[in-house]
Amino acid sequence: MGIRIGIVGFGEFSGSFMDHFQTHPDVDEVVGAEVLPERREEFRRKYGLEKIYDSYEQMLECEDKLDAVGIFTQRHQHGPMVITALKRGLHVFSAVPLSCEVDEAFKIIELVKKTRKIYMAGETCYYFPCAIWCREKYKTGAFGKFVYGESQYYHDITEMFGSFASGGSEWKKVAGIPPMYYSTHSMSMLFLSIGEYPVEVTCMGFEDDIGDGIYGKGNNLWDNPFSNETAIFKMSGGGVARINEFRRCGTNKPSSYITSLIGTHASYMCNGMHHTFTVGNVFGQKPRVEYISNEINSHIYTENKDKLDLNVDPIMYKCHRGFSKVHDISRLPVSFRDIPDGGHNGSHPFLVDDFVRACVTGKLPPNNVWDAATCMIPGVIAHDSAMQGGKTLPVPFVGKAPADWDRIDYSDRIYE
Ligand SMILES: NC(=O)c1ccc[n+]([C@@H]2O[C@H](COP(=O)([O-])OP(=O)(O)OC[C@H]3O[C@@H](n4cnc5c(N)ncnc54)[C@H](O)[C@@H]3O)[C@@H](O)[C@H]2O)c1
Repeated sequence: MGIRIGIVGFGEFSGSFMDHFQTHPDVDEVVGAEVLPERREEFRRKYGLEKIYDSYEQMLECEDKLDAVGIFTQRHQHGPMVITALKRGLHVFSAVPLSCEVDEAFKIIELVKKTRKIYMAGETCYYFPCAIWCREKYKTGAFGKFVYGESQYYHDITEMFGSFASGGSEWKKVAGIPPMYYSTHSMSMLFLSIGEYPVEVTCMGFEDDIGDGIYGKGNNLWDNPFSNETAIFKMSGGGVARINEFRRCGTNKPSSYITSLIGTHASYMCNGMHHTFTVGNVFGQKPRVEYISNEINSHIYTENKDKLDLNVDPIMYKCHRGFSKVHDISRLPVSFRDIPDGGHNGSHPFLVDDFVRACVTGKLPPNNVWDAATCMIPGVIAHDSAMQGGKTLPVPFVGKAPADWDRIDYSDRIYE
């Protein structure tokens, strides 16, 4: 028996997941909900959805045979919607972040513990090639102990306008969300690679004076003055992590990446499309550098880089399209092979497959509620620190998943 899932919010992001949900062998039916009529019409036409409701609330009211919901609404709306779904006994897949409030995040953790329903964050960056490479390598012990790391998410607010357009004339009130409230991309790549969590933070903000009404007191729901924030975290193992969340910055792709992960034995470094793993001159090791760009950069980039005119071709754009060598595509359903890439380093098929596997087996997926909270709560505290001029603040520990909750195991469900 497969699952029935209700997708909420018909923006660009959910659109790039529809084919995966609709063709996954363990999904029986996809229904949906959207408040904007033109988006309902677009999804009916594009994806042939037969059941579309006028709102999330209406969908929950009318559907008594749903197993799961997929929440793709705006970032500050997720928390309350997740709570409603869990209380109804539904599994939840949600676009990041988990929530924008610390108390709400803890409430969601408690609900997951109580109901044993699956919560999984749609954290694309967990499946980014640099994150996979660092996570797998870190597990082997090759890095030694974590000393220092840097990761970031750089995305200029003007380019993100599309994501906020659904807010209509009020879009700026939401667009001005504190950058650290959306720090989960950066944190998941680094924190989940080393398996540590932050214990304290100091953060500073870049006060935005562009004057376009997005940032500043009274302009947004949070009275947030900062378009860019930089946080330094003391990690549970004693090392230090630097996270940048920039929304007013002259950058392009890559936008979410690890710049460095330095351990006592070895380090990973990235500069644009150039990736290295350096074994240090310590503990009697023979120092060496491994050039690992071809394992991390996407196939489309690696295969075309020498043919392209860098001044003309959108090469940096292509770098985040499609799979890389580190992706184990053999575990994915065959039906996913022909689906065009959704634009986040080949991550969407892995997200959908992990979530559906978790729902049908009852096992804990990656990006579960504990992972999601570890990559969200520190950001909210970091913004508090920035608002207090960089005061060092403690970060609460989110706890660990119950030891008796098995993690999904790819060998126990093989899709032809
Ligand atoms: N890499 C990533 O992880 C990534 C990338 C892009 C977007 N996102 C996240 O995905 C989410 C969606 O992004 P988007 O750009 O598609 O946003 P969007 O604002 O274009 O779409 C959200 C949709 O939700 C609908 N909605 C809101 N409340 C509703 C309700 N009660 N019932 C039904 N529909 C409702 C809105 O009308 C809107 O169409 C955001 O949270 C965004 O932050 C994540």
